[in-house]
Amino acid sequence: MSIFKKKTENNQSSDKHYLTGKEIKEIAKANAKVMKDLEKKKYRKCDESEFITSMDDDANILEIEDLHTYFFTDQGIVKAVNGVSFNIPKGSTVGIVGESGCGKSVTSMSIMRLLQGPTGQIYSGSIRFKSVDYKRDEHGNPIPIYKRKPNGKILFEDAVDKKGNVILNKDGTPKRVPVQATDEKGMLLFATEEKVYDIAEMPMSEIHRLRGRQISMIFQEPMTSLNPVFTIGNQLDEVVFIHTPGATKEMAKKRSLEMLELVGIAAPERVYNSYPHELSGGMRQRVMISMALACDPRLIIADEPTTALDVTIQAQILDLLRDLKERIDGSIMLITHDLGIIAEMADYVVVMYAGRIIERGTVSEIFHNPMHPYTIGLQKSKPTMDSDSDTLFNIPGNVPNPVNMPSHCFFKERCSKCTAKCSGDYPGMIQVSPTHYVACHLYGEEEANG
Ligand SMILES: Nc1ncnc2c1ncn2[C@@H]1O[C@H](COP(=O)(O)OP(=O)(O)OP(=O)(O)O)[C@@H](O)[C@H]1O
Ligand code: SF4
Ligand SMILES: [Mg+2]
Repeated sequence: MSIFKKKTENNQSSDKHYLTGKEIKEIAKANAKVMKDLEKKKYRKCDESEFITSMDDDANILEIEDLHTYFFTDQGIVKAVNGVSFNIPKGSTVGIVGESGCGKSVTSMSIMRLLQGPTGQIYSGSIRFKSVDYKRDEHGNPIPIYKRKPNGKILFEDAVDKKGNVILNKDGTPKRVPVQATDEKGMLLFATEEKVYDIAEMPMSEIHRLRGRQISMIFQEPMTSLNPVFTIGNQLDEVVFIHTPGATKEMAKKRSLEMLELVGIAAPERVYNSYPHELSGGMRQRVMISMALACDPRLIIADEPTTALDVTIQAQILDLLRDLKERIDGSIMLITHDLGIIAEMADYVVVMYAGRIIERGTVSEIFHNPMHPYTIGLQKSKPTMDSDSDTLFNIPGNVPNPVNMPSHCFFKERCSKCTAKCSGDYPGMIQVSPTHYVACHLYGEEEANG
């Protein structure tokens, strides 16, 4: 008996788990062409004008519009993010929820441009981000801000070498140099300017403009993100060096210790000299957060930041994030499975299902007036103290195969409110309030109007 499934007329077209050798070859060939083009675009040399854009609404720090992020696999194209649009208003926390595999992490990896190529690619769409970056001269060097006298003239001082000796001119007089201004933490000041980048269009050689100083990410498992062979101090100093022009060793250490203190580490000097394995899980996560905050990022992406931690440490880390957001006047994109965390932390909520947004609104709209049957199911599946049932509600069924998504609503096979309309086209996004949107055929023009 052959160990291979026989190709018949029937299984060729109806069995989606079975691909013939010919089909696999065809998929690989088609994928190779698209991946090659997308990789070429990623590594192209181009002028800044190709990725500079403007925000739709100046109150936002991030605007994602119709983002498609695909994985070109031998089984077909996995549309992990399939037409996602949402905004992060400046100073707000936006929570992203949805069950495992719905595309939350792939959305954040797209923003950070951390997708593993050539398989993972941003296929189309825009990710507009408002950055405040250093203004640079014609040689690409940041332009310093100098201290000025009360009469407005630049202040000069004697130049000194690394050992502190005054540098002399040829005629024996001390060399005079302008004095660069510093902030209250002693860091050198440079002129800045606001620029809006379309991250999806940026070549990889320009991504350093964003990572760290503008957007930073806190990952779920700190041990895999910290380098085990360097001390915490080495790793923190490195972040300061990379992102702060002119930083000296002393400046970097001072800043690193400040950051460790800021995230509530009681003995910063000891932790600074420790290796990652010498710290507890909660402490490592605090170190990761301090690293993410070392350059005062404007947007923090936290992907399940507390999943690996116990409940008390979880609460402390969330308090810390909330507190830090206020202090650095930043914005947070918070990814979590935990609706309790969302209720506590978020201003806005985005609910994802199978690579698409099925509902979004303010935290109060999503919790007090959930409209999509999936969001309603999510709320019901949350354990509560006053529930008299001893079993938890679960949404029956599974997410459809990501390679062969249907053309109708992706939730149809699991939905108890399904109507005849649901077998038709995928439902469009209906606006039900200035901030509340839902993609479901149960809601139509009437809801949108009132
Ligand atoms: N490297 C990859 N190759 C192929 N498919 C991938 C790859 N990485 C992710 N995917 C697919 O993309 C989809 C979205 O994955 P993603 O990691 O964003 O899910 P998630 O919402 O973050 O889930 P979780 O809550 O479990 O972290 C899934 O169907 C996943 O299988
Ligand atoms: S569109 Fe239909 S199947 Fe989809 S969630 Fe709404 S009611 Fe359910
Ligand atoms: Mg994830």
